[in-house]
Amino acid sequence: MLFDRQLIFVVGKGGVGKTTVSCALALAAARAGKRVLLCEVDGVSRAAQLLEVEPAAPGVAGPVVDGVSVMGIEGSAALVEYLGMVIPVRRFLQTVTKSEIYQYFVAAAPGLKELMTIGKIWFEAQRIDKRSGKALWDLVIVDSPATGHGLQYLRMPQAARDAFGAGLVRREADKVVSLLQDPRQTAVHLVTTAEEMPVNETVTMEQRVREELAMPLGSLFVNRLHLERFRPSDIELLEKAARRSRRPEVKQTLGAVAKRAREESGWTTLNRQHLRHLGAAGKLPRVDLPFVFSEEFAKQQLLELVDVIEAAA
Ligand SMILES: Nc1ncnc2c1ncn2[C@@H]1O[C@H](COP(=O)(O)OP(=O)(O)O)[C@@H](O)[C@H]1O
Ligand SMILES: [Mg+2]
Repeated sequence: MLFDRQLIFVVGKGGVGKTTVSCALALAAARAGKRVLLCEVDGVSRAAQLLEVEPAAPGVAGPVVDGVSVMGIEGSAALVEYLGMVIPVRRFLQTVTKSEIYQYFVAAAPGLKELMTIGKIWFEAQRIDKRSGKALWDLVIVDSPATGHGLQYLRMPQAARDAFGAGLVRREADKVVSLLQDPRQTAVHLVTTAEEMPVNETVTMEQRVREELAMPLGSLFVNRLHLERFRPSDIELLEKAARRSRRPEVKQTLGAVAKRAREESGWTTLNRQHLRHLGAAGKLPRVDLPFVFSEEFAKQQLLELVDVIEAAA
């Protein structure tokens, strides 16, 4: 269910954990035996860092480690790669890409980089391994850009299709749109935290994915969730025990634990209240990911989330 498609987009507000969830999904899918390509769009190689692999050049698949290969995708690099396929003569290609008019065109053409980004993703998703004749990747996971316009590149193929009449561009755009909108092949997973702003943004995003993009929604990942570890009756017991104890060190320790338990339980309640406002996004299959408390969030912490995802898949 979580990775039974061939192309997965992970979207959400900046900072909620898109890159983290994309990496965890990739590792969980690889554990299930899939050959996974994880694409980080306009990223800062955070995915490679988290997975503890060397980042490769933009548009190049890095080495497969734990069943996952990481690729950074960047619009202008994708455009050069695309032109390389159209203009196979290297010397001529360089003349083109170094020219002033090219630089001007790339900077000025609205949406060109986004179009090239999604084109490159499409190319990788349908890429055939020449030796085996089968798909090169079982699953392509796309970690969306960090900016507020994280859905922009998903809209470009439709825009291109509508802007061009019959012809090559229209045919190419049609192919990409059909893949993006096909519920058998594609899913958009939403990531949020159980806080006010991210929840609001999730409501908007869910609607835009469904109505504007007409893309199939997958699951909702609620990240950094405080889980209820103490029942209210347990907290009361702790507090009572702290009050009654005559030994100061026991009194102090029990008191501190009770206070911490109350705090954690307060977070749980707050989280739950915010999640009531998810609207239609709240009806999606949901995966709760715990807040992993640690000084630094690294691969070891990531693996805790992989276990949760594996159990939910
Ligand atoms: N479950 C979690 N528990 C604790 N910290 C987390 C968790 N998930 C993500 N983080 C931390 O939250 C921050 C944002 O995560 P990141 O995946 O980079 O978000 P995004 O890609 O959406 O901007 C990072 O510092 C990350 O380590
Ligand atoms: Mg990110």
